[in-house]
Amino acid sequence: ADTWVRMVTAQTPTNIAVIKYWGKRDETLILPVNDSISVTLDPNDLCTTTTVAVSPTFDQDRMWLNGKEISLSGGRFQSCLKEIRARACEVEDEEKAIKIAKKDWEKLHLHIASYNNFPTAAGLASSAAGFACLVFSLAKLMNAKEDNSELSAIARQGSGSACRSLFGGFVKWTMGKVDNGSDSLAIQVADEKHWDDLVIIIAVVSSRMKETSSTTGMRDTVETSLLLQHRAKEVVPKRIVEMEEAIKNRDFASFARLTCSDSNQFHAVCLDTQPPIFYMNDTSHKIINCVEKWNRSEETPQVAYTFDAGPNAVLIAHNRKAAAQLMQKLLYYFPPNSDTDINSYVAGDKTILK
Ligand code: PMV
Repeated sequence: ADTWVRMVTAQTPTNIAVIKYWGKRDETLILPVNDSISVTLDPNDLCTTTTVAVSPTFDQDRMWLNGKEISLSGGRFQSCLKEIRARACEVEDEEKAIKIAKKDWEKLHLHIASYNNFPTAAGLASSAAGFACLVFSLAKLMNAKEDNSELSAIARQGSGSACRSLFGGFVKWTMGKVDNGSDSLAIQVADEKHWDDLVIIIAVVSSRMKETSSTTGMRDTVETSLLLQHRAKEVVPKRIVEMEEAIKNRDFASFARLTCSDSNQFHAVCLDTQPPIFYMNDTSHKIINCVEKWNRSEETPQVAYTFDAGPNAVLIAHNRKAAAQLMQKLLYYFPPNSDTDINSYVAGDKTILK
């Protein structure tokens, strides 16, 4: 009997939106109500490592997350697996004497092992890196010929924000027009070298899991918030153009203004939902105040803040000097081992913490 195993390992960082995605126009295909733009973190920081394996000895598809088996029966996993299997091509590995014909992929089963290098319960986006890594590693295993943008449209069906993790640097997810979602995909705005003096620091305010999942939250917002309609139609399209300009020109003042305003509008839209959704807490608000005051006391903004579906602050400093000053301020206002709610910091550049 055949006993070979073919394996591929890939590593994918998570991404943080600076113009937020919030609200779906199609829940099954995961099509958004507006474009979004994100920055992909350094692969050494928050990332997922996934190994995918195929062997004729496997009798079903199985997956382990951080060493624990999880179910693959959910619609999102099934969509990604189905889409990627449909694009599988012939594989010939002479060294290992493996030959897989295109049609063999229909019968062969997969084993998937995925690890996050950060606690999954830390309230930090893990699905973005996870689905991007899953789709990317499967595409390599199955010798699929699609480019990263085409793969992003598959990762999108696992988790919307995942489509933006297929590229480094700054990435735009264009909402697309067509009903089947084939044009709702990610494109790179600027690569990771374009603006590499930015330093990203995440202040982990709470390691608890978020109370309202993004799926439920978005559904409620789309159904009840008038502010979301205004945001999607009138505000975001202009901001996307301005943000692309700011990134291209490395214009930190505009970048910071747009990033902070968009985070605040996203949380305003959550508050405008029935029932209202609160993702930030008192510590988040104190961090915003601290950064706003500091930025106003300087000639030009030094730090941008943005918050996702949880209380943790993602802080983007203009350069290493601003990042060092930021850490000083945070450690002063939120001293460790006091009743501060900041548990830890995850740095985009670890040397800054030494
Ligand atoms: O992709 P999801 O379902 O995890 O939603 C992500 C939503 C935000 O993180 C709040 C915003 C974004 O654009 O990433």
